[in-house]
Amino acid sequence: MKILGIETSCDETAAAVVARAADGSGRILSNVVLSQLDEHRAYGGVVPEIAARSHLDHLDRLVAQAMTEAETDFAALDGVAATAGPGLIGGVMVGALTAKAIAWSRGLPFIAVNHLEGHALTARLTAQDPNEAAFPYLLLLVSGGHCQLLAVEGVGRYRVYGGTVDDAVGEAFDKTAKLLGLGYPGGPAVERAAETAERPERFALNPPMQGRATCDFSFSGLKTGVRQQIQRLGKPTLSASDKADLAAAFQRAAALSLADRTRRAAVRFSEEVAPGRALVVAGGVAANRTIRAHLAQVADETGMRFQAPPLKLCTDNAAMIAWAGAERLALGLTDGLDFRPRPRWPLAELSAPETAA
Ligand code: KG4
Ligand code: ZN
Repeated sequence: MKILGIETSCDETAAAVVARAADGSGRILSNVVLSQLDEHRAYGGVVPEIAARSHLDHLDRLVAQAMTEAETDFAALDGVAATAGPGLIGGVMVGALTAKAIAWSRGLPFIAVNHLEGHALTARLTAQDPNEAAFPYLLLLVSGGHCQLLAVEGVGRYRVYGGTVDDAVGEAFDKTAKLLGLGYPGGPAVERAAETAERPERFALNPPMQGRATCDFSFSGLKTGVRQQIQRLGKPTLSASDKADLAAAFQRAAALSLADRTRRAAVRFSEEVAPGRALVVAGGVAANRTIRAHLAQVADETGMRFQAPPLKLCTDNAAMIAWAGAERLALGLTDGLDFRPRPRWPLAELSAPETAA
């Protein structure tokens, strides 16, 4: 089965073609991503109207490029999938409408993909062996807008263990980068700065929520902690080594908090669902090497297998959307051309057949 996928929910315009074999294994035939970073940098964040217009300007060309690189044509496709939410609605509409137009003109099924499900199922595309990310598994979803622990029981079947009570962890990385003057996007900038820290232990920040009985997160206090440390330094401008040491302190506290919350969820999952399953991390923040190392250790301690997608498939891309579309189509789940894009669309509200596991 061959699926074209389109992603336009934030500041990446992306198109990809993915193949799914009968045994459930996947292969990326093409994966084109155009980042709009330069268009938004001056504003220190994504401007929705600029993003939507830019998607409109570039998407047709990127779809053509993805088809050429995959050495395929529309007649050889089995379906067209697009992110239909959650996300910046103007951009989501550009991608979903484009996919619907292709599906309608070629008589192909259209699959409305939830962006979060794209992240959630990526490990099944990239696992060496489909059994390594077989359902059920525990998922830590960490991106710019989301921070959740979920039991993934099948396509469309998610049970939420915990979420953030304030900021998402990616948002905290982005805000911390802004406080430190490290630029945009914040996550990779904080990680790079932390790597150069000469005294990574110089500042102490408490990992939020550590030891709490729930599986919830909180990151706004951590960002405030960074601001207070900056104020305590009392300097008009921070030196490069101040920034690096603060970035390292923030990253360490964030990683420790994620690890602590995930450990709690891993114990619960092992008791309630099954022991010895996979611990999967997904979303843009999953690209962070320090966080990956902490989570690998949690998996080790709790008898789980750690699964993390390759770095470039952690941040937004269309291969994950095409793949989620393929997984849905394989179960006979398609959507009408009247599907309305959804700015908000929690995973718990997804449609799924009872037999999806
Ligand atoms: O999944 P994603 O590409 O877009 C959303 O769906 O939100 O995630 C973007 C988020 C941003 O907050 C970005 O700063 C963060 O992921 N991020 C990182 C790293 N790379 C991206 N955070 C920490 N370390 C990284 N290396
Ligand atoms: Zn994302």
